[in-house]
Amino acid sequence: MSALFKVNLELIKNAKPYCDQEIDRLISRHYILRYALGLLSTPIRDLIEENNLNVFDCGCGPATWLLELATNYRHCSFTGIDISPVFPQTIKPQNLTIDLHDALKGLPFDNFFDVVHQSFWVTVLSKDEWNFLVRELVRILKPGGYIELIELNISVNNSGQVTRYLNNALTAYYKSKKINTIVIDELEDYLEDTLKVEIYEKEVKMIPIGWNGPVGELALYDLISGYEIAKPYLSEFMGILPNQYDHLVELARKEVVARKSTFSIYRYVARKCDFF
Ligand SMILES: C[S@@+](CC[C@H](N)C(=O)[O-])C[C@H]1O[C@@H](n2cnc3c(N)ncnc32)[C@H](O)[C@@H]1O
Repeated sequence: MSALFKVNLELIKNAKPYCDQEIDRLISRHYILRYALGLLSTPIRDLIEENNLNVFDCGCGPATWLLELATNYRHCSFTGIDISPVFPQTIKPQNLTIDLHDALKGLPFDNFFDVVHQSFWVTVLSKDEWNFLVRELVRILKPGGYIELIELNISVNNSGQVTRYLNNALTAYYKSKKINTIVIDELEDYLEDTLKVEIYEKEVKMIPIGWNGPVGELALYDLISGYEIAKPYLSEFMGILPNQYDHLVELARKEVVARKSTFSIYRYVARKCDFF
């Protein structure tokens, strides 16, 4: 643990346990991101080769993004946090520090990072929490630094009846928990509302689900394992038996391939104004 963080036993005790399937799913999503948008947005790619950047990843999960970048860019310093101890604790490059921390308690830095990155929080936060966290992420950026937010749309493009049914149920479930699953429509507002950044670029990429080669296979794995992980609470929420739920998932698996469905992945990049 770095001096910035106190070991928070309470946090470890209450951390959401991760199953291996969830970790595998996040790792496979890393490769989808790498294929779809690249691991870094253009302005950061241009800077990182020549400069000693301080890079932060909020809610890094198994830290696949941090591990790959810290290995490739030894001259830069990387920092990650997550509320769950799902990241590697000892085997990692020396230029990478990862700590257990609840981002919603505030981030223990100020004007410190050249790059702040956050990915795939779409099923995590309420609207108020998004507002708070984006302000925190901008606050810890140096003037002139870049923030990149990567999210996916949890609804499937060109979906059939079964996939739509499952996704509507998932959305209703999250809504019942006050989670903002339409965050992709609002990220720009959260960023602009800080009054401290200018949007630099917005990229969107459609990912084939179950067709068009290896990335399609990864996207199919992402979708189906997402349904499988959700099974205990989602089947109950939908009021159906576990075997009925399994049947729907199998139908969805075939449906997305037959209909050539896709999902959309978004990257917003903003630059903090020089005078803050
Ligand atoms: C869907 S995962 C994405 C992980 C990683 N960013 C990636 O792209 O693979 C969301 C992560 O946010 C973490 N998280 C959720 N709430 C958090 C909080 N309040 N503070 C810090 N991390 C949090 C979760 O533990 C999880 O690892």
